[in-house]
Amino acid sequence: MRTKVFSFIALLMIASFILAACGGAAAPQTPAAPTASGGAAAPTAASGGAAAPTAATSSGGTALAVGIVLPTKDETRWTQDEARFKEALDKAGYQVEILFSEKDSAKEKANVESLITKGIKVLIICPVDGTAAAASADEARKAGIKVISYDRLIRDTDAVDYYVTFDSIAVGAQQAQYLVDKAGTTKNNPLYIYAGAASDNNAFIFFQGAWGVLQPKIADGTFVIKNSSEAIALQGKAELTRDEEAKIIGQVTTNWAPDTAKTLAESNLTATTTADKGNVFVLAPNDDTARAIGDTFAADKDIKSFVITGQDAAPASVQYIIDGKQSMTVFKDVRTLVKDAISAAVALLANQAPAAKGSYNNGKIDVPAIQSPVISVDKANVKAALFDSGYYKTSDYTGL
Ligand code: BGC
Repeated sequence: MRTKVFSFIALLMIASFILAACGGAAAPQTPAAPTASGGAAAPTAASGGAAAPTAATSSGGTALAVGIVLPTKDETRWTQDEARFKEALDKAGYQVEILFSEKDSAKEKANVESLITKGIKVLIICPVDGTAAAASADEARKAGIKVISYDRLIRDTDAVDYYVTFDSIAVGAQQAQYLVDKAGTTKNNPLYIYAGAASDNNAFIFFQGAWGVLQPKIADGTFVIKNSSEAIALQGKAELTRDEEAKIIGQVTTNWAPDTAKTLAESNLTATTTADKGNVFVLAPNDDTARAIGDTFAADKDIKSFVITGQDAAPASVQYIIDGKQSMTVFKDVRTLVKDAISAAVALLANQAPAAKGSYNNGKIDVPAIQSPVISVDKANVKAALFDSGYYKTSDYTGL
């Protein structure tokens, strides 16, 4: 009990610190009401092989009753989350353990079990596979631990207490809107679509957001889908069921892996004719896959120009945008997500319900949620959105 009270006080201090630290940022702060719903369960792809927890971040100071589990160190998206958590917590002089799951659900489970053994009271977890992670959430619940789903929703369990996320419908909608705006009044534009991993609930929400904007422009002849027979079969439908989305995603998934994205783009371009190329439009789900797909399109002599989307404002893609090699990205300010996650942890430790601005259905329950807004960024506003706000340093980039 003493530890719990002490940890709670520690967290309260951290939360005040973070709220103060974030106060001056030019980041978007006004959450919109969540609109996405879960629907049918996403296909699972749990991988085998037990493994020990990987390296933790720690610093001197008071131990927190909170453990954080992130999906992979291979993507700057998640190392940035780690850095922002550390930045927020270390500055306040506290210790927290952050474990990475190396895109492996078995490793993720081992990480959670290790944190349970260490006596955490709140688990902040971004699942590798939303459905497979239900078992870890259940284990944590049994041990009396509160579970916060971070960025990605854990599905098909009632053992999720809270969901901290971005407006993921808006992510897909902004990507699609960018393509629509660039196409203008032209017709019959070749459209190539790609999606995230089917094991990630977000991939469905991003796609849902994009489809809502693209479908009317496919119906009116602005775009012609070139790389998905499933999407073509469903192109008359304004709203798709989760099963229908799963069919399309199954055909155009990058699995959030640049290599997979590259191979798929290559095979798509091999399968299409010169007439399907020319000036093309590409819905790429995030920055890491966008660069892989973009490089592939750039290498095809029959592609005259391409407009390509992204997401995350990953440093390498920000340079690509400055260099004109990627058209846009969707900026998701990780500082806001970290702040929201810590505020939620503080509330849960005090046995209070964190402030929710809506809910997301995870296939089993409506999980109370908070979501933060996102910003569409291209060459025209990259400086204002990412550098003037102090998010990135101009000295790390060329050509600005
Ligand atoms: C996140 C994205 C990220 C992707 C791949 C999604 O769940 O929301 O920001 O790019 O996973 O890791």
